[in-house]
Formats: sequence, C-alpha cells, structure tokens
Amino acid sequence: MTSRPSPHQTARIETETVGLSLAHDSAMLHVQGSAVYIDDIREPEGTLHVAPGYAPDAACGRILSLSLDAVRAVPGVLAVLTARDIPGVNDCSPSIGDDPVLADDRIAFHGQVVFAVVAETREVARQAARLGKVEIAAETPAVTVEDALARRTIDVLPDYAFKRGNVTKALRASQTRIEDSFHIGGQEHFYLEGQAALAVPDERGGVTVYSSTQHPTEVQHCLAKMLAVPDAAVTCECRRMGGGFGGKESQAAQWAALAALAARITGRPAKCRLDRDDDMVMTGKRHDFRVDYAAGCDETGRLAAVDVTFLSRCGYSADLSQGVNDRTMFHADNAYFYPQLHIQSRRLRTNTVSNTAFRGFGGPQGMLFAERMMEAIAVRLNLDPLDVRKRNLYETGRDVTPYGMKVTDNIALAMIEELEASSDYRRRRDQIARFNAGSRFIKKGIALTPVKFGISFTLTQMNQAGALVHVYTDGSVHLNHGGTEMGQGLYVKVAQVVAEEFGIDIDMVRITATTTGKVPNTSPTAASSGSDLNGMAARNAGMVIKNRLIEFAVKEWKVARSAIRFERGQVIIGNHAIAFGDLAKKAHQARISLSSTGFYATPDLVWDRDKAKGRPFYYFAYGAACSEVTIDTLTGEMTVDRVDILHDVGRSLNPAIDIGQIEGGFIQGMGWLTMEELVFDDRGRLRTHAPSTYKIPCASDVPADFRVKLFESAGNPADTIYRSKAVGEPPLMLAISVWCAVLNAVGSIRPGKMPPLEAPATPEAILTAVKAMQT
Ligand code: MTE
Ligand code: MOS
Repeated sequence: MTSRPSPHQTARIETETVGLSLAHDSAMLHVQGSAVYIDDIREPEGTLHVAPGYAPDAACGRILSLSLDAVRAVPGVLAVLTARDIPGVNDCSPSIGDDPVLADDRIAFHGQVVFAVVAETREVARQAARLGKVEIAAETPAVTVEDALARRTIDVLPDYAFKRGNVTKALRASQTRIEDSFHIGGQEHFYLEGQAALAVPDERGGVTVYSSTQHPTEVQHCLAKMLAVPDAAVTCECRRMGGGFGGKESQAAQWAALAALAARITGRPAKCRLDRDDDMVMTGKRHDFRVDYAAGCDETGRLAAVDVTFLSRCGYSADLSQGVNDRTMFHADNAYFYPQLHIQSRRLRTNTVSNTAFRGFGGPQGMLFAERMMEAIAVRLNLDPLDVRKRNLYETGRDVTPYGMKVTDNIALAMIEELEASSDYRRRRDQIARFNAGSRFIKKGIALTPVKFGISFTLTQMNQAGALVHVYTDGSVHLNHGGTEMGQGLYVKVAQVVAEEFGIDIDMVRITATTTGKVPNTSPTAASSGSDLNGMAARNAGMVIKNRLIEFAVKEWKVARSAIRFERGQVIIGNHAIAFGDLAKKAHQARISLSSTGFYATPDLVWDRDKAKGRPFYYFAYGAACSEVTIDTLTGEMTVDRVDILHDVGRSLNPAIDIGQIEGGFIQGMGWLTMEELVFDDRGRLRTHAPSTYKIPCASDVPADFRVKLFESAGNPADTIYRSKAVGEPPLMLAISVWCAVLNAVGSIRPGKMPPLEAPATPEAILTAVKAMQT
C-alpha cells in the first residue's frame, strides 16, 4: 500500500560532516548578543534616519492635501520625501506594479505611507513624522471578506479553480452530506528584528543597501527601478535576519527603497528601521479566510466529493497573493484523495494592508480546511477522526491530486501508524472519553493529524540557485550562495555540504553575507527550498574546484583518479596523503583557478497553470502530530498537555537544526491557531499592533510534554542534496492537531454536533463554541 522505503533498501551514504548535529554557525553570537543585524552595523559617518508618515485617521480615499511645513521646520530634519521625489518608478510590488513606495494620489489602507522624514536622528525623524497633516477625502473601507463580498470590490487577482468529475451530482448521490463554513484568522510575523535597511550611496548615483530581506535580488531590482539606474548600480547585502517567516520575502523592499531614496536626495547614508507598532500596521500578514464547503461521503467516512470555496482577504494589492492562494488550493487535499472535486479560490480586495507570505504560504489554511472536514465527518458518523483520516489517505489507485500530479512518495500511512502506536493514541482517547464523562467543566481532547507539503516554488522559474566558492592557498574556503539566513540554519547546512565536498573541517569554511554582487539573479529564500537549492548549487561549485584539484593531482603524482580521496582535511593520493591546504597551494603555484560558481535548477518540474495540470512539486515532505489539550468550559482557557511529533526530513543534513525547525514551526503554528488574533476595527485600523494586545506564544506555552522525533528513512526518493528534505515550513502545519484537539474537547459536550469553532481557537472562541454546544 505505502511505498515506504525500508531503511535497509538503500546503502547509507557515508559522510563526515553532512548529517552531524552541528550548532547553528551563529549560535554563540546569538546568545552573546554579538550577531550583527542591520541596526548593529557600524553606521558610516553622517548616517541619517528615515521615518514613515501616514494619515492617522483615514483608511482609504483621495489625498486632498499634504501639509509638511511643520515637519520641515523641526530642527534636525533634512528632507521630507514624497512621491514626487522619486526619480524612477514609484513601486515596490513583487508582482503587478500596484504597491507605491509612497502613496501618490490616494491611500488604500490605514497606515499606508504617504511621506517620509529624513533627519539627523531616529527620534527626531519619528517625532517630526507625527506633525505631518494628510487630508483625505475619506471613504468607508471594505475591511473584512464579508465587506468585500457585499461591496463587490474588484478582486485583486482573478479566480482560480481545480475541478474533477461532476461534484454536484456526486454530492447529491452521497449517503452523507456535510455543509459547513468557518473563518481562519491571519497572523502577524512578529520577527524579532523588525523591517530595517541601511543605504550607502556611491559616487555615481548607485547604492549599496544592507537590508533585512529574504529576497536581496528583488530589493536590488526595486531600488534600481525607483532610482532609474541599472540593476548593476545597486548592490543588496544581507548577513542575517532576526527572523523573516515570509514577512521579508516581498515586504522588505519598501523600507530599503525609502532608505535609498533618502540617500539619493541627501547624498548621505540613510537608515530606515521600523518601530514595532509601525511594522505591525504597515506590513502584510498571513491571509485570513472564510471557507465554505460541502462534502459527500459513504457510511465509513470515505469521501466521494468535495466542493470548497476559499475566500481570502488579500488586502489592497496583489503582492504574493497569487502564489499564496494557489498554495492554499494545492493543500486543500492535505494527504487525502478527493475522487470528485471543485476547489475554488477568490482573492478579495479589502482596504487593509496587503497580505503576504507567511510560513506555509497559504498551505496551512488549505490543510486546516481538510482537517476540519475530517473532524466534521467523524462527528456526523460518530467515528474516531483518525479512522476517517486513514480511510481517505492517498494510496495506490487513489493517488492523483486535484492538480493532476501523482503521489508516488507516500509515507503518510506509515508515519501515522508509527505515531499512533508511539503516542498511545487509542488508549489515551479512551481515557479521555472516560475523563470527560466524569468531568463537568473541564474537558479534554486529542487529535492526530498528518501533513503532506509540496516542495518547490509553484512558479517553476524560481526553482534555481547559484553559489560562489573560493579556496584560498591555506585551504580555507570562502562560501557564498543566493540563500539568506533568517535563523533557520541554512548557512550552516550549506557549509556542511561544502566541507563534505572537500573533506575538510566545517571551521575551514567561512560563511559570508548574501549579496547580489557575488551571486546574481537569485530567488527569494522561501518555499522551504533554501537548502535544497543552495546546497546543490554550492556543492556544484565545490565539485568544479575539486575536479580541477583531482586533475592536477593525477598529473602531478601520476595516479589514477580513483586513487584520490578527500577526507579528514587530507587528500589521499595513491600512497601519500597531503593536507588539503598544501594541495591548494601547489595547485595555485601550477596556475590553476581555485574559484568557481555553481548553479542548480530543480529537475522534472512542469506546471501548466492554465490547464491546472503537471508536476508543480519535486516531492512532498510529510509529518504527523498527536496533541492532547484540556479546556475549561467556564472560562475558555486551554492548555496543551502533550504533543508527539514524527516528522520526515529525509536524510537530515543536520538533525539538531531540523529538530529546532520542527519545534519552532509547531509552536508558531500553535500560536496562529490558538492565541494570535488580529483585530481590525470597522474603520480599517489594526487594533492589535503591539505585543500588549497581540499575544504570541512564549516559553511557558510550550507543551509540558513535547516529544519530537525524526522519521527514520532511507532518504528522500527524489534526488535532493544528500537525500534530505526541506523542513522550514511543513512543521507549522503539525499544529493543526492542537486545533482539532480543541474541537474534539468542545465536541465532547454534545456528541453528534459539530462545534462551531473558529480559528484561532482563543479562549473567547472556545467559550463561544462551548455556549453553542450547550444551547
Ligand atoms: N526559521 C527561523 N528561525 N526564522 C525564520 O524566519 N522562516 C521560515 C522557515 N524557518 C524562518 C524559519 C520560512 S517562512 C521559510 S520559507 C524557511 O524557513 C526558509 O528557509 P529554508 O528554505 O532555508 O528552509
Ligand atoms: Mo516562507 S512563507 O516561503 O518565506
């Protein structure tokens, strides 16, 4: 049934450095506070500071007037930037050109930047920004999905759908039919380092910008367009981000643009670092949704047909909404086969900040739908939701996704069954049923849910990467690639790959800042593909140099190629051994280049979006989680008591880093689904724009009993770097088990009735659902 490769089937790939649990390359610097983020870069002399200004009282409407004299009069203010100061194109959008750097004739959401103050200090810039008067012919904003539907605003992007069979007929013919609708909340990224950029002008109208960005190339292109200079006149560099989580994939560009514009106008370096409240108000979040669906199944809970519509709040512009909403559709099946289906998506325009990438990139919302549907079927048929899940998994003969890709690497059932046993799911479920029967106010719930997440950018052209490797004559290595470091451990993983290639110690590999000046035309570090793409590109660069060294050694020592091995800092050449550095020195003396670029493009991807057919993903990453929760039906309070996770990373490049990603991703997902709540008022103002009103999980929210295990596997069946699998985003969706466990706990109040639980399941939402069950 499943094609789980046995660990013994494939020979183990012997490695020295790849597969070791090495610490993050900056771990010491992180804890000592000496890791350099944008605001820690030693400021060049004369650095100015930029603060954005907006209309505090309006969400949308035409700009009638702008009075900035009071701003200009503040001592220390050097300039006030408006749209008219932009020499080139006033746009920082990643897609269709609908995101002005500075609003020109109208604003479209509350907090949109209209002007920017350039001053000697950050404090002066921020205080002066408040003195600007922006007069707006204010219109009533469309704030929610419902507003957008009622007002018939023009969607930011066209609808899109996947179809198979005749759903209407299949639903009518189904024994059991479920109709349901629910909301899924958005999420603020809450990266520890807010959006920040430092721009240093050069002598010929160009600029070097240090930006906290997941996408240096896009920042480069945006600045070049805006300053009306060629791409080659702009360099963008990023050593690390203090978290990105998707929030710096497209939305780092505007702040870099403001810093660069200030640098151009004043001729001095300029820095823009957003204040936390501004960051929360001015930058996009995870898309929130309303999901309407109908499902039909037989008496065993096996689905016959699914008809689902995803209505998503995109905000005022397109940003990355196409890819995000497409990914929602790609994951509306999670790990389940839908024989007949209609998966629709509408991308609604609202007068709110433009929603953007966030870990999972729309996938989590699609999957939450699938898992809620499994729960709904189980409630209706009085079955264990796990049985319903298992009955619907992809399997041989039922293995074609809604987008026409065959699932050939399915390990979902094997993982679920392993976790079902190791977490003792069935026994605990019985115990919980007994506990609930005897407990009037406190109720428990448990759920075990799978994750199947497609790996690759669904825009096929983005699946490429470059690297640059130099070997110096002492044998040390300078490594650069197009991927960015945001805490996820990409740099150390790629360094392990390069150390492995040369058979040297990881300490001999110097990891350097990502810059468009060394590796050009890069994709964003996103879609969890960083180590897949950059690991391969860096290995290819290393292989080029290694081959030159081998050829040199063959000639020099007159041995066969097969007699040469690179290991433990040495190069074994027939009967001798020579230090790697000595070989490098000799090769250099023989005038052999010790530097190379490397390139990688993911093979076998074909995706025809118009026909909705092809293979958009190189492979799937799998996982499963079992969560147990307790709720208080009088207060709505909830605790997560125990979590068991089994996650598949193929053959891990670095188990310590991977487990960190799994734990962090899970907790972030738990935050999204249980406590983080974005509240916009009817005037379109975000009321939760600081940690005082927006609650993210903290250390005390980590489940008391938290067991994370890597799935033992012979490696990724797809030919990825050392047969590893991407790990950045998939674990976030393991937290859907927590939400389902809450649903299960609420459901115990009245078996047979589906709890009207919304996401996030905050205490308020839990209490609302509890009340609905009691009446
Ligand atoms: N982990 C940390 N610590 N910080 C982050 O910002 N971003 C996540 C994930 N893990 C993130 C993180 C997101 S949204 C993605 S797409 C991946 O990391 C990107 O990195 P990768 O492709 O190297 O996994
Ligand atoms: Mo991650 S949302 O793909 O940056």
